Amino acid sequence: MIETITELDALRERVRGWKREGLRVGFVPTMGNLHAGHYSLVMLARQYADRVVSSVFVNPTQFGPNEDFTRYPRTPDADTAGLEGAGCDVLWLPTVESMYPFGVELASRVRVPGVSSVLEGECRPGHFDGVCTVVSRLFNQVLPDVAAFGKKDYQQLAVIRQLVADLQFPIGILGGGIVREADGLAMSSRNQYLDADQRPRAATIHRVLRDMRDACLAGAPRTVVEAQAGAQLRDAGFVVDYAALRLPDLAEPVDGMHGPRVALVAARLGTTRLIDNIEF
Ligand code: PAF
Repeated sequence: MIETITELDALRERVRGWKREGLRVGFVPTMGNLHAGHYSLVMLARQYADRVVSSVFVNPTQFGPNEDFTRYPRTPDADTAGLEGAGCDVLWLPTVESMYPFGVELASRVRVPGVSSVLEGECRPGHFDGVCTVVSRLFNQVLPDVAAFGKKDYQQLAVIRQLVADLQFPIGILGGGIVREADGLAMSSRNQYLDADQRPRAATIHRVLRDMRDACLAGAPRTVVEAQAGAQLRDAGFVVDYAALRLPDLAEPVDGMHGPRVALVAARLGTTRLIDNIEF
């Protein structure tokens, strides 16, 4: 049976007990409204740990003023059942007051420069500061040995790796593969905002990413690949924030080079903003 914990002292006591027994603790932070992508992270953490804690906390500091904080879907009963099915031992449910005891405005912030500033950082100013601020707090609360983050949020994973290296958190970071719907759409809590007309068109993003990969591997220059991808997305009705070819550390690749790269897209259908990527 999964145990739901809402008090920090109780969480610390539970984790201390496990550590006294010599057990390794895995952690999967989430904002709830869980789907198969989240559950795959719980299963991944389980491979590296004896016990798994997952948190559900819709973090106000990572949403911009005009973003979907208030309407972000909250489905606590389904989340609890799903986490139990995935093998999670403890569901950690902090409140805004316990996460930010001095209030959101007076909260100490954690900012990871460099990798936070490009792509998502340009489109969502302050977003990664909010993510790093809450993830640092969650790490200090749970004190896990390993923590799992999804690769759909490719840049978030890169930012978290930098955070952990720079602040020397003794935590191994695991990247979980993207889980997709049958038509290729990456699973996301925000997919449910899509209406019946938008939902099939949303799968265009994955097709465009594959085309970007293929064009890049065929030797097309980066700017051409990016421009073609942007045009394909606009033809399908998207407003495009970026369609970008990058090195794994998100620096711009030089044309003609070989080695690992990643194509990333952020684009909006109506009021729904979707992100996805493909590594190759
Ligand atoms: O990826 C998410 O769901 C969130 O950004 C995270 C890591 C749980 C922090 O609020």
